[in-house]
Amino acid sequence: CGIVGYNGKLDAKEILIKGLEKLEYRGYDSAGIAILNENGVTVFKDKGRIAHLRQIVDDQVEANIGIGHTRWATHGEPNQVNAHPHQSASGRFTIVHNGVIENYHLLQREYLKEIPMQSDTDTEVIVQLVELFANEGLSTKEAFRKAISLLHGSYAIALLDKEDPETIYVAKNKSPLLIGVGEGFNVVASDALAMLQVTNQFIEIHDEEIVLVHKDKVEISTLDGQKIERNPYTVELDASDAEKGTYPHYMLKEMDEQPGVVRKIIQEYSNDAGELAIDEPILKALRDADRIYIIAAGTSYHAGLVGKQYFEKLAGIPVEVHISSEFGYNIPLLSEKPLFIFISQSGETADSRQVLVKVKKLGHPSLTITNVAGSTLSREADYTLLLHAGPEIAVASTKAYVAQLAVLAIAAYVTGKSKGIKSDFDLKTELAIAANAIQSIVDSKEELHKISNEYLSKSRNAFFIGRNIDYYVSLEGALKLKEISYIQAEGFAGGELKHGTIALIEKGTPVFALVTQAPVALNIRGNVKEVVARGANACVISMEGLDEHDDRLVIPKVHPLLTPLVSVVPLQFISYYAALERGCDVDKPRNLAKSVTVE
Ligand code: G6P
Repeated sequence: CGIVGYNGKLDAKEILIKGLEKLEYRGYDSAGIAILNENGVTVFKDKGRIAHLRQIVDDQVEANIGIGHTRWATHGEPNQVNAHPHQSASGRFTIVHNGVIENYHLLQREYLKEIPMQSDTDTEVIVQLVELFANEGLSTKEAFRKAISLLHGSYAIALLDKEDPETIYVAKNKSPLLIGVGEGFNVVASDALAMLQVTNQFIEIHDEEIVLVHKDKVEISTLDGQKIERNPYTVELDASDAEKGTYPHYMLKEMDEQPGVVRKIIQEYSNDAGELAIDEPILKALRDADRIYIIAAGTSYHAGLVGKQYFEKLAGIPVEVHISSEFGYNIPLLSEKPLFIFISQSGETADSRQVLVKVKKLGHPSLTITNVAGSTLSREADYTLLLHAGPEIAVASTKAYVAQLAVLAIAAYVTGKSKGIKSDFDLKTELAIAANAIQSIVDSKEELHKISNEYLSKSRNAFFIGRNIDYYVSLEGALKLKEISYIQAEGFAGGELKHGTIALIEKGTPVFALVTQAPVALNIRGNVKEVVARGANACVISMEGLDEHDDRLVIPKVHPLLTPLVSVVPLQFISYYAALERGCDVDKPRNLAKSVTVE
């Protein structure tokens, strides 16, 4: 979910709605705003997208203060009643919330037995508690503080009090939240992107802090009442980076940007002498590690699998790769000097963050590889390497994955070099070659559209196979297709398919096979023959030099370790066109959110 708030001189509605549009990638089941003027609070909310919210908001009602929410449902189905904002029984308090309150049942039983609940959400408990404590005679600030201190779980909250039209009450724990500051106004947002329309000055809020956002000042304090002074920082993002311009979809724009992203990374990670470099303290942390633990979710996890090969082959460091939601609750035996690497496009994924919190308690060093400077994982880890990919808005990750691979390769290569490991290639040159190879694939969109139609127009399922590093790319290819076209897809190690899953192959089943690794090229071709013999419609994507006559697509030759940066690109486009042909919402697939800030 995403939240916004505005307190200033202008009409709040438009600023809130524009802000929510920018946060829609965080959830889009339902949306709402509440605005407060001399006549009281008016709430507009419904199931559906922000575009729908825009239609139901009454233009006539004006107010200079308000809060808003876009939802990714956790508790309670997406409908009008469960949409935020929620109000207290008397209507005095109005709240928006991102996160999950784990003890809401307990709180309800203990404090709110007498109060009839209007929704199925955990959020409503918070606003009812505030009213309960205010009715007992506490000031709003104290009632808010008391309610917040009872909560277990994650939250970013903004609250309005009908009787105090000067203030937005804000609190945060685990869920991301920033305060934007301007002249004569202040704003609240889950992500700076939402409020770049009005300011690029933001103040970080830390866990268990409470903030009173007035028009002309921001008061931060801890839950136990200690005042905090914190200066704003400048967010160096151009609001237009997050616009899709003439593109029909963000995903298409972001796939097209991939060659440029790789070139930008080469530049950002080159020192004055023109050599690839990373900051010395990070290099030292990597060198000192006897084992690296990569922790990530979704696409970032798939990048981590490739990263393992990079660190093992180029830097001689053993690596384990773990899914964050599993690792945190089942920590394996650790080595003596572990280094934890968190890979996260958004830097906000709650599953990864809970691992970081545990790792820090254990006293181990941590490095976050993320696209978002100042994100939670970046702030809380010891070190950060940025992806420099520019805002990624489409829910299905594309350019961030390629950027993750490039940054992982650079980190591993530079570490290896500094350990005196000789490599027989120049990574900088090879990355530049890969960028050109990606460009040539991006330029062959029409062909990829045809391939997509040829193989996927009639199918309900598909397989992606590869061996070695190609296997990891098959996992990512299958995920892309599932996410946006809803075609059931599986990525498989080519040799493993025959041990069970081959039973699913029938006449016409599409199987995409990647052939970019010379040592296993013959083996994967053998696997292709096995599925074809059982009726599969095989689409072989091979690399120049390993190609054969009947291959459906041949990608340009790149260094064998860098093939994932290139081979994933046709798979992204094939998925994109499959989704397009099926009339799916490419940028906002059903049930998903880009930044999942609940565990
Ligand atoms: C969500 C997104 C995925 C993404 C995953 C991890 O589930 O839908 O596309 O890969 O989170 O996100 P992160 O921001 O941590 O890379």
